Amino acid sequence: MRAPIKFRYFQRIVFFTGAGMSAESGIPTYRGAGGLWKEYNYEDFACQRAFERDPSSVWDFHDKRREMVQSKEPNPGHRIVSAVQTRQPNTIIVTQNIDGMHQRAGADPDAIAELHGSLWRLRCDAENKVRADDSVPMNPRKCSCGGYWRPDIVWFGDQLDHRVVRRAREALEECDLLVSIGTSAVVYPAADMPRYAKQAGAVTVEINLEDTAMSGLYDHHLRGKASEVLAELDAV
Ligand code: OAD
Repeated sequence: MRAPIKFRYFQRIVFFTGAGMSAESGIPTYRGAGGLWKEYNYEDFACQRAFERDPSSVWDFHDKRREMVQSKEPNPGHRIVSAVQTRQPNTIIVTQNIDGMHQRAGADPDAIAELHGSLWRLRCDAENKVRADDSVPMNPRKCSCGGYWRPDIVWFGDQLDHRVVRRAREALEECDLLVSIGTSAVVYPAADMPRYAKQAGAVTVEINLEDTAMSGLYDHHLRGKASEVLAELDAV
């Protein structure tokens, strides 16, 4: 494959990433063969009702995820995205991923909009507090107020943080290149957000192993592993 464009032709790039971005790190995606939601029922582990019913099981599940993610490393694709963001500082990373891999690969945390929150942040809803935490297993599970800390993740049925959405939307509306990487584009409202970039006139590129529900939105469809396609787009 010869890349139809190069990152260096653009001034304001947005990388829009999903679980396929981290697949080459050995972190399972959500759907498809080996996907997390094939093995676990999200209604038992990833929604507010499950947390209220059985916080211990929900925390056990998230501890397992924290342990797994902590044992993995950013892959060459993450490193290319971070290198572009460092070299071209108007670059913004809008991610659905909660794994923190873009940060670990060296991207500026201020240039990352985590639409679905983070495995590495905790929230106390009773006291309206949020804090970073990378302990594995997470301990103590209870806040000093007596209530449980909750992973600061957008679970099924939750609203997205409107400040993060606004940030992402602004970046998408202002970008000249949108690069979607490794998302099946079926979880809303995130799935539809690349449309802001398209409507504003950006060049749109979809990197994925296969066609997705949103492929029609993109000018270029680059099929292959994220790290390999990114290397071509970044090559001088
Ligand atoms: P999915 O698991 O739905 O989709 C992963 C996509 O990555 C698929 O389209 C794969 O074809 C593609 N893919 C896999 N390996 C790849 C590789 N090496 N290179 C390129 N593409 C690859 O994951 P998401 O679309 O991210 O929500 O899922 C969206 C949301 O659903 C997640 O953020 C999560 C989940 O429930 C929360 O955590 C709140």
